[in-house]
Amino acid sequence: MQLTVSKLQKSFGAFEACKEVSFELEQGKLFGLLGPSGGGKTTILRMLAGLEYPDSGDIYFNGKRVNNIPPQQRNIGFVFQNYALFRHMTAWDNIAFGLKLRKKSKAEIKSRVQHLLELVGLSGMEKRYPHQLSGGQRQRVAFARALAPEPELLLLDEPFAALDAKVRRELRSWLKETINRVGITTVFVTHDQEEAVEVADEIMVIHQGKLEQKGTPLEIYHYPQTPFVASFFGETQFIRPGGLKGFQAYASADQAIVRPEFVDIGLITELPPSAASEKAKVRQVYFRGNHYQIEVEAAGQKILANRSLELPELQPGDDVNLLIHRLHLCEGETTRLVENQNKKNSQANILAVQGGAR
Ligand SMILES: Nc1ncnc2c1ncn2[C@@H]1O[C@H](COP(=O)(O)OP(=O)(O)O)[C@@H](O)[C@H]1O
Ligand SMILES: [Mg+2]
Repeated sequence: MQLTVSKLQKSFGAFEACKEVSFELEQGKLFGLLGPSGGGKTTILRMLAGLEYPDSGDIYFNGKRVNNIPPQQRNIGFVFQNYALFRHMTAWDNIAFGLKLRKKSKAEIKSRVQHLLELVGLSGMEKRYPHQLSGGQRQRVAFARALAPEPELLLLDEPFAALDAKVRRELRSWLKETINRVGITTVFVTHDQEEAVEVADEIMVIHQGKLEQKGTPLEIYHYPQTPFVASFFGETQFIRPGGLKGFQAYASADQAIVRPEFVDIGLITELPPSAASEKAKVRQVYFRGNHYQIEVEAAGQKILANRSLELPELQPGDDVNLLIHRLHLCEGETTRLVENQNKKNSQANILAVQGGAR
């Protein structure tokens, strides 16, 4: 289904939960609705489903306005975070439920449920009750149940939020693969940026009821258009750019956002001083599993950088050099990616610590 949303508004009393949200979603793609809790993601999803009506604005399914069409006629599948399965029904009966409601024939139900069990990797478990399934398996049953009546649009509201981290990670790739196979237009809500990046073809970042940016995960990572997106996506820190070598031209900006992967640090032998680098002192060393994260102080500011485990270990108090390759300059409501202007002349210096550190 091709989905168009135009200037959608929704208030609860005086509180504006959704402010002029507009977007278009292509048929068959997986869209991530990403943003912090309370941002308005569920409200948008509920309006798409017809469980909540917009104060103004329009929703179109394949070009047809559906504002006044009740939920059961919208042909939508829904999976919630805690979409409790029917506890007294087996996996089979849960999946078959919507088909029975639609008075499908026995033969049709049988072949459809069998197909879905296979699709979600639960063949052989159809006789189990929800309490005999793991959390991840239960969500896969919920997913099969939502898909059973062949909806044209699938809405997933933080479907993995209640699961533990490992299962959640496994289900992400499973979900992406399965949706691709089924080819159904899907909106996936999450507050977890990593989950959004892994799962979604395209991401919409929602903050305080507003759509901040829509783009592919890479577009949003590389070209965040607002300070909020730049700071929400990936690990970030705010610094003052003016006093840093290579960024003096941007002294008028109060704030800039730096990601650890924009920064190299090295001992003097690894990263010789240059016009582009700063002298810095190591303050803290954090072991992050597959790399170190080093907090240094440079030009009177605290800055975080990643460092490869392959390089010599650093200790608090060590003198190092710091090279900030680029940063996102905050200019009011927008951001701009700027490169270290002194770097061109010192390319040779940075080779020593690159590679392993990112
Ligand atoms: N039925 C409601 N009545 C009053 N306030 C609501 C209602 N539904 C949501 N809200 C408020 O709207 C805001 C957005 O909520 P929600 O859409 O659930 O955000 P998210 O899903 O991004 O966490 C929240 O502050 C929430 O308290
Ligand atoms: Mg929500």
